[in-house]
Amino acid sequence: MNAVTTPTTVAVIGAGAMGAGIAQVAAQAGHGVLLYDTRSGAAEQAIGNIDKQLAKRVAAGKLAPEQHAACIARLQPCDSLEGLADCGLIIEAIVENLAVKRELFAALEALCRPDCILASNTSSLSITTLAAELQRPERMAGLHFFNPAPVMALVEVVSGLATAASVAASLYATAKAWGKKPVHTRSTPGFIVNRVARPFYAESLRLLQEGAADCASLDALMRDAGGFRMGAFELTDLIGHDVNYAVTCSVFDAYYHDMRFQPSLLQKELVDAGRLGRKSGQGFYDYREGAVKAAPARLTSSSPVEPVVAEGVGALLKPLLQRFEARGITVIQRPGSGLLRIGDATLALSDGRLAAQHSRDEGLDNLLLLDLALDYASATRVGLSWAADCSQSAIDQVVAVLTQTGLHVTPLSDTPALLVLRTVAMLANEAADAVLQGVASAADIDLAMCAGVNYPKGPLAWADALGLSTVVHTLHNLQAAYGEERYRPSLLLRRRLAEGRTLHE
Ligand code: NAI
Repeated sequence: MNAVTTPTTVAVIGAGAMGAGIAQVAAQAGHGVLLYDTRSGAAEQAIGNIDKQLAKRVAAGKLAPEQHAACIARLQPCDSLEGLADCGLIIEAIVENLAVKRELFAALEALCRPDCILASNTSSLSITTLAAELQRPERMAGLHFFNPAPVMALVEVVSGLATAASVAASLYATAKAWGKKPVHTRSTPGFIVNRVARPFYAESLRLLQEGAADCASLDALMRDAGGFRMGAFELTDLIGHDVNYAVTCSVFDAYYHDMRFQPSLLQKELVDAGRLGRKSGQGFYDYREGAVKAAPARLTSSSPVEPVVAEGVGALLKPLLQRFEARGITVIQRPGSGLLRIGDATLALSDGRLAAQHSRDEGLDNLLLLDLALDYASATRVGLSWAADCSQSAIDQVVAVLTQTGLHVTPLSDTPALLVLRTVAMLANEAADAVLQGVASAADIDLAMCAGVNYPKGPLAWADALGLSTVVHTLHNLQAAYGEERYRPSLLLRRRLAEGRTLHE
């Protein structure tokens, strides 16, 4: 199905943050755009703001003056719904309220062209429900932009039960023609991004609640080891806890209280206290004037740097060995099961077991566990944990070697699967379930998480790179340690592992 082409006028209803952004995207792509809002003057004001923003881009040499003028000329405020009757595509971005949106779509259906596509930018309402009372629900779909719409590349094209495949295909082609990265998804709670991203917040919140480390340490690990732009606490402080907590609650409710989506009491408490994040001056961090910025915990050691004996180390840790050698640390390689021996200490990658359990199972004394990093060659920080009976000298010896390579070492209490590993395993688990349930393809899910929320790697590609056996093993160990269904590995992960296939095949 073809894209909605540029002679077609696009209507955007709702001139708030999202509507204005979407109108700008459509106008920049060459469409005449009518912007309608029930709030008097809102559409004019939104166009005025777009004008100012584009003028700044012209001044910065990022936009040609003619393009600015042409874009603004294509944007028109409209003061009645009837004025939208000739549009070929109507995108709704009004208040997130089912009854109000349904009433709007019923009114639109009565006045617009038979071939007009009706789209909603809703982030949490079901497209199936929104379309249910329409005469022709097949022409209605979700077109979910991310904030700010002119900047964020992702657009989720959401098909409800009745949405015609040709309508979804046309919206996909249109979003692509507008310079966006569209993905197809079925109308299920949270669509792709707001569902698959839940563990990103949930696992950090859980580790904070369990006292594994403080906010600044956990955030620093997600950034400097995991390669994410921000950690969960700084990101939720930015989004606003009222907004982020409401999304988690709506996904939790919609999935019949599946414990994988359980909201956090810590975040609820912030909402209850009115500590909504940056916008209220306090959230997990304090943004008020004079507040001291919390720093991540970091271990130091004055122990001499010992040679490293690498026993059968796999591809994941090879860059760390190269880092050791580049800093003049002797590395002796011999066969084995992936352990690093450093002085009296043994260092292993976390696999979901507690360090105490791991050391008992394998008969290893002075065992320390290393958290996952996106890439040990470029990471600037790693997480480390150990069992209560690990000697201080063993900890010092490991810290001395790691810090010698320029890594900051941040301690975590002995917890099953350290932060980055458990987060990545749970993101991949959720993404795998979404593939299994036909919500979206593996490629679209990975694209959505990279383009919509800036993940450094799609969760499914990340799981493939780690090896599905590592991911499934980690989840099994987490499930055993907590005794909770929350960590049960998706059938798709187990099936692909058994078949010797990757998630992207
Ligand atoms: P907003 O509150 O900034 O703007 C909503 C606008 O709709 C207001 O100007 C309001 O006057 C107008 N409005 C309300 N009822 C109306 C009606 N019946 N007819 C015409 N105009 C009406 O809201 P925002 O943030 O722009 O969100 C709009 C939609 O986009 C919601 O469905 C929201 O879930 C969704 N969304 C929001 C994102 C965000 O980050 N803010 C991201 C992606 C989707």
